[in-house]
Amino acid sequence: MPPRNHNTWLKKPSVEYISSEIYSSHAIYKQEQEDIFSKVWVPVCHLSEMYNKGDYRTTQIAGQNVIAWNTGNGLKAYMNSNIYQPAGNITTADFGKELPCEVKHGQMVWVTLDPNPTQSVEEWTAGAFDCITDAIDTEELEVFHYHKAVIDTNYKLWHDTNSEFYHDFMHYFNRVSGFNDEYFARKNIPFDNGHVNVSSFTVNYEEYDGFEDRGELSFPNLPPNQWYMVDLFPGFNFNLRGSAYRSDTVTPLGPNKVLIEFRGYGLRKDTKEERETRIKHHNSIWGPFGRNLHEDLIGVAGQGTTMREGTEPRNILHGRHENGTIHDEIGMRHYYEKWGDFMGMSPSLPLAA
Ligand SMILES: [Fe+2]
Repeated sequence: MPPRNHNTWLKKPSVEYISSEIYSSHAIYKQEQEDIFSKVWVPVCHLSEMYNKGDYRTTQIAGQNVIAWNTGNGLKAYMNSNIYQPAGNITTADFGKELPCEVKHGQMVWVTLDPNPTQSVEEWTAGAFDCITDAIDTEELEVFHYHKAVIDTNYKLWHDTNSEFYHDFMHYFNRVSGFNDEYFARKNIPFDNGHVNVSSFTVNYEEYDGFEDRGELSFPNLPPNQWYMVDLFPGFNFNLRGSAYRSDTVTPLGPNKVLIEFRGYGLRKDTKEERETRIKHHNSIWGPFGRNLHEDLIGVAGQGTTMREGTEPRNILHGRHENGTIHDEIGMRHYYEKWGDFMGMSPSLPLAA
């Protein structure tokens, strides 16, 4: 076989692929804000962050300032807020245009910039949460952890890393505790609107030195040491590792910059000891000094470095077909098909005139 060079790599691949231009083009980033983020339901925060009358949380959706506010008579969301503190309490306010707002799926607060959404949150999520509904909607949840990170990468690369599992080989902890027969049989299950979930399996936590079985504090109706993942279009992840639940949400800031907000959850009724253990379980995987999260962030920052605006485009293959099992790329193929529908362009030839 002759040596390969960049011309070889730029040839049209024989399997499914997308163009790296969708990660590096400023024009595509701007269009995504208009054609995707301005249209979809966005999980902006959690009900437990705003229990009291007057509590609020602010965020941005597609560059618009948005505030979710506990009026004392239900939650409401507004745009054009001139409040910039991320959280606080105000008793009276005059915010102007009201936005659609729902509390759904483990008491997340969902907001959309679309003034007349054609789908409810339930319809939009299309069954993607069904696998964990009994675990997250039986008891009230409570946020015990919040941090955010601004990462030099495209938001879709972050979502990709939640969608594909072959990067698990990067996670030493997962290799030790998770690479059993059940793991390799996990299925990626696509749902309408570009969502995917990844079926559960049993993690052997005690295989990792110093870690212990987590079955005792499993979320309601969940067998011991299970691990479910819900990847919601266009960039929201819900991750249930038996005794601790995590969400991460993206706010794209540019083609190669994204704000990611991480929340960790326990049950509101937790005793002090239960909560401490859940926090320990959460942080040991996903805290800044945990086993996995920083590895994911380093991975996507490295990908971002190679795909900055002006870099040579290349084709990214999504051709693994393995009966939908854990390392099949069906999740990304499903996502980018929906992405193409929203954007009115092919992710393989995005800038074709
Ligand atoms: Fe990971």
